Amino acid sequence: MTHRNGGNGVRNGNRNGNGSANGAHDTFVNGGKAPLPEPLRILITGGAGFIGSHLAESLIARGASVMAIDDLSTGRYSNIAHLEEHPGFQFVYESVTTESVMDRLVSECNLIFHLAAAVGVELIIKSPVQTIETNVLGTEAVLRHARRYQKKILFASTSEIYGKSDNHPYEENDDRVLGPTTRGRWAYAESKALDEFLALAYHREHRVPVVICRLFNTVGPRQTDAYGMVIPRLVKQAVSGRPLTIYDNGLQSRCFCHVQDVVRALIGLALSPRADGEIFNVGSDDEITILDLAHRILRLSGSLSPLEFVPYAKAYASDFEDMRRRVPNTGKIRDLLGWTPRIPLDQTLLEVIAEFRSRIGPSPSREPVPSADAR
Ligand SMILES: NC(=O)c1ccc[n+]([C@@H]2O[C@H](COP(=O)([O-])OP(=O)(O)OC[C@H]3O[C@@H](n4cnc5c(N)ncnc54)[C@H](O)[C@@H]3O)[C@@H](O)[C@H]2O)c1
Repeated sequence: MTHRNGGNGVRNGNRNGNGSANGAHDTFVNGGKAPLPEPLRILITGGAGFIGSHLAESLIARGASVMAIDDLSTGRYSNIAHLEEHPGFQFVYESVTTESVMDRLVSECNLIFHLAAAVGVELIIKSPVQTIETNVLGTEAVLRHARRYQKKILFASTSEIYGKSDNHPYEENDDRVLGPTTRGRWAYAESKALDEFLALAYHREHRVPVVICRLFNTVGPRQTDAYGMVIPRLVKQAVSGRPLTIYDNGLQSRCFCHVQDVVRALIGLALSPRADGEIFNVGSDDEITILDLAHRILRLSGSLSPLEFVPYAKAYASDFEDMRRRVPNTGKIRDLLGWTPRIPLDQTLLEVIAEFRSRIGPSPSREPVPSADAR
């Protein structure tokens, strides 16, 4: 039996140093489009979502075949429509809770990326039953099938797990600080925490190879603005010439990581046997306040939109609680794989601005001003 921190020496490395390389996986993780070490048939749950569609694209480009299951509750078919022609891609429009379909897909694959979930603060507050049921029952179903066929599963968890702890940067074994069950936003963190407990229990009791990735804010093209995600929301407002709505005073901060960097981490962890039974933070530690983020979006888009400050109580609910900061310590994944994010925030913002511009069209603007790291 492998314990969370035992057996593979991951914790013995220098967490704050340059990280140690890990042979073929290091080459793969850092080598961009390097082919997979062996042909793989991969199942992605939530494969038509934001991260799932980028993951599918990347795996296919590296020679894997991909089955993507998605009920399109928050994902979009347009995210994966361009992959449908590829002989190595199959889309299954179904829920992960549909037993017969999951049984077949899991039996046919040799690796599972479990990304299907109810995501986003707005969705959680508006549809708590859907959030809790999707995240808990969906993950239980995926783990049960993984156990039946003894397939490796990578589970996408979240930085929300740490709650409102101000012990930054967050490490994987840190204590968690959460609000009361009467405040709906904590249902997301708790549902994902229960998933983590269950995944670790399947690993310990039933020897299912499981790796848990706690994703911090992941951003890039295809992220929807529909459920309160800050970058697509602000970019859409900037590009359409509307005020950029800043919640509270805008001095709360986040660290944003490009989805391509996250995909590299997910694939590297899924391919590393030394990651089994372990939890990894995945994200950027480059912190920016939401106010500075809004100013950068205005500068890079050349938008003339004003800023509008909105109290949380008006944006969400009178008892809404937010975290002021959320910074990961990513030493553990760096030690195992040599992984660090590579794509600067300005490049990400330019890509998202270009995407919204192509959908919405130009708005009144001055000349956009790229900053040093985007040139
Ligand atoms: N984007 C982020 O910043 C972030 C941060 C932390 C964690 N995560 C995690 O990463 C994963 C992917 O998130 P995302 O940002 O791509 O969001 P997303 O909403 O684009 O992707 C989730 C996908 O799951 C699908 N889905 C939901 N319920 C389903 C069900 N019952 N059966 C099949 N498919 C179902 C949705 O339709 C959607 O396509 C999620 O598990 C999320 O919790 C994302």
